Amino acid sequence: AERPYIVGNWKMHGTRAMLSEARAIDRAAERLMKVEVAIAPPFTLIHATRKEAALIGVGAQDCHAAEGGAHTGDISAAMLKDAGAGFVIIGHSERRADHDEKDSDVRAKAEAALAVGLSVIVCVGETEAERDAGKAVRVVAKQLDGSLPQADSAAEKVTVAYEPVWAIGTGRTPTLDDIEAMHRAIRERLHEIYGDAAESVRILYGGSVKPDNAAEILNIAEVGGALVGGASLTAESFVGIMTAAA
Ligand code: 13P
Repeated sequence: AERPYIVGNWKMHGTRAMLSEARAIDRAAERLMKVEVAIAPPFTLIHATRKEAALIGVGAQDCHAAEGGAHTGDISAAMLKDAGAGFVIIGHSERRADHDEKDSDVRAKAEAALAVGLSVIVCVGETEAERDAGKAVRVVAKQLDGSLPQADSAAEKVTVAYEPVWAIGTGRTPTLDDIEAMHRAIRERLHEIYGDAAESVRILYGGSVKPDNAAEILNIAEVGGALVGGASLTAESFVGIMTAAA
């Protein structure tokens, strides 16, 4: 299989005191070269993290769709790139919920990021009510159709993260069979969107990934890595996941 891709999403956590965790993660990555590692700290730490951590990828958690202009408090993709980011997470369920981001907004942001040469991690995932209603695959397919940048050439810069909303921060995860079924469905949809180029798109699982469940999740067919929230906040637990991936 390919090199697993393990990405930490620090969400709204971290001041400069946390740079020591980034350094420790970077050092661990040096002896775990079989794993591709990245973290997405808050905007305020991107530049410092890039300077502290030589090996791992550093990215952002959002960007604005416009190149610039009168958008107080927002950050453009070009600014992220200038600060040292190599990728940006787009359409996380917390952004969709807290900032009412629609699929069309997610696509516009992803296209803005690609336009400046950033890679993107586009997040999708159903709510618990949608899963209970048997609609999970349909909901995720619709999100993919509406959120992904459309050009076939985009595929090589796009990663998809499947994050069931009900599994985020809850300690609950889908069964391994359910994760596998969803990842297969996502792969099929990617083929419809990108054709053969879809094969190069990695599909990450996110939602309550911990050191003790990472190995079994990462062993699933079509799971190309993990997007990790809470367990990425200390080097100790994140390195546990990196080690499970190796
Ligand atoms: P947790 O790992 O804390 O469940 O968060 C997952 C997530 O939302 C990563 O983007």
